[in-house]
Amino acid sequence: MTNPRDPNRVLIFDTTLRDGEQSPGISLNTQEKLEIAQQLARLGVDVIEAGFPITSPGDFEAVQTISRTVDGPIIAALARTHAADIDAAWNAVKDAPRPRIHTFIATSDLHIRHKLQTTREDVLGQARAAVAHAKQYTDDVEFSPEDGFRSDREFMAEVIAAAIEEGARTINVPDTVGYATPEEYAAMFTRLYELVPALREVTVSAHCHDDLGLAVANSLAGIQAGCRQVECAINGIGERAGNASLEEIVMVLHTRAPLLNLTTGIETTEISRTSRLVSRLTGYPVQPNKAIVGRNAFAHEAGIHQDGVLKERTTYEIMDATTVGLDANSIVLGKHSGRHALQQALSELGFELSGHTLNTAFKRFKEIADKKKQISAMDLEALVTDELREEVTGYQLEWFDVEASTRRPPHATVGIRTPEGDEVTGSFTGDGPVDAIFRAINAATGADARLREFRVDAVTGGQDALGETSVVVEIAGITGSGQGVSTDILEAAARAYVRALSNAVRRRGIMAEAEEATAAAVSEPPVRTP
Ligand code: KIV
Ligand code: ZN
Repeated sequence: MTNPRDPNRVLIFDTTLRDGEQSPGISLNTQEKLEIAQQLARLGVDVIEAGFPITSPGDFEAVQTISRTVDGPIIAALARTHAADIDAAWNAVKDAPRPRIHTFIATSDLHIRHKLQTTREDVLGQARAAVAHAKQYTDDVEFSPEDGFRSDREFMAEVIAAAIEEGARTINVPDTVGYATPEEYAAMFTRLYELVPALREVTVSAHCHDDLGLAVANSLAGIQAGCRQVECAINGIGERAGNASLEEIVMVLHTRAPLLNLTTGIETTEISRTSRLVSRLTGYPVQPNKAIVGRNAFAHEAGIHQDGVLKERTTYEIMDATTVGLDANSIVLGKHSGRHALQQALSELGFELSGHTLNTAFKRFKEIADKKKQISAMDLEALVTDELREEVTGYQLEWFDVEASTRRPPHATVGIRTPEGDEVTGSFTGDGPVDAIFRAINAATGADARLREFRVDAVTGGQDALGETSVVVEIAGITGSGQGVSTDILEAAARAYVRALSNAVRRRGIMAEAEEATAAAVSEPPVRTP
């Protein structure tokens, strides 16, 4: 492993599962988070921020499962300065080979006055005590002054100096609301280095939000001002407009290495796959023209460009698509491929399946291979992700019938397996076949779910392409998202709807638990200096 103290090595701290998961409508369950964490390990990130354990038992369980299962990266958990937060973070990560506690408190006067309703002195005391408390558990403690960019530099410096004195080894200074310009963000670090000489002894980190579309530019400015850790998320997901996009930062450092002379530990060929997995599991689409991972990022439309690229690729391409793993169609299986061939192809894609899971994937593969002549790596990825998800959701689609015609309103009947194992049925006559199926699922489960989003995409091109649907539903103000894959769009839609509904029901349970946990945390006083 590269020495993290190598002055030219930038540590990649991935917060897809924490800040990214705070995006509206995203609700990943433990199995899905684990799948993403395993892929992040394959991608070679240095740190996975796996969650915020105090916020709910579900978050705690996910962080703990990732800590116990995922090998390679440091596993970090977020905590406010409350003792209960830090204890929960530690309990969730303590089984990781390399655990980290990341604690934070706001240092801007705006947050101190209005959000925390306290004083600078109290914030300083809380920061000091929280780092000291976390340090009793692990040597690897990160501290963030939240809303750092809008904080008074002298006061923030005082808080940072206290955190370092108490043993924080990483200091992360976020632009929490995405307000900075690159020059200002860099100047902030330059000033902090002047005010806190001890910053040279720790890892300094950038964490930027994208409210003005500057998150990646600001992160790069932070790196150029001395940061050697950068916090980012796959596909740039995160609070509001999102976080800095991991793939963009990494490919800037990679592509412009001759200029910047900086390296990361990222296996760039895993980038596309990681992006697809995160998009698929979160239900957040990637815009077609998104840098690095958008469908069109390496496509050439104008004849003059196509001609140029055919003559010499570098006329219009600054990166080779294979560098980010965009050759995923190289693996192709056909109708006659056997279980062993499937297992081997999946293994090449990083899915180690055996026993029951392999049998189910094989059955599904055969069903699809009957309808589709050639199955590519992207198809397999979609199929297996879909199949693995099946095992953990609450309700399951057993079957459906739809009668559709231009002369009568479509009528659907569905059979659903409940989490308790019973089969329930429901029928509905809707406006269209998809509407009829969705409402028949509501009738079967008794859930008053309302459709908020519905999207259909093709996994690959061609008439026999696998269809992938994405659904967001809302039940009593709580949203849940779900995806489904099939050669039959109605089946893909029905699968996605059942999963979205299950996720919303599950989230409702988690929210109820979280409310109880918050009530308990509020009755627990925050850590304070004596
Ligand atoms: O944006 C932010 O300030 C954060 C902190 C918790 C690091 O996400
Ligand atoms: Zn953030």
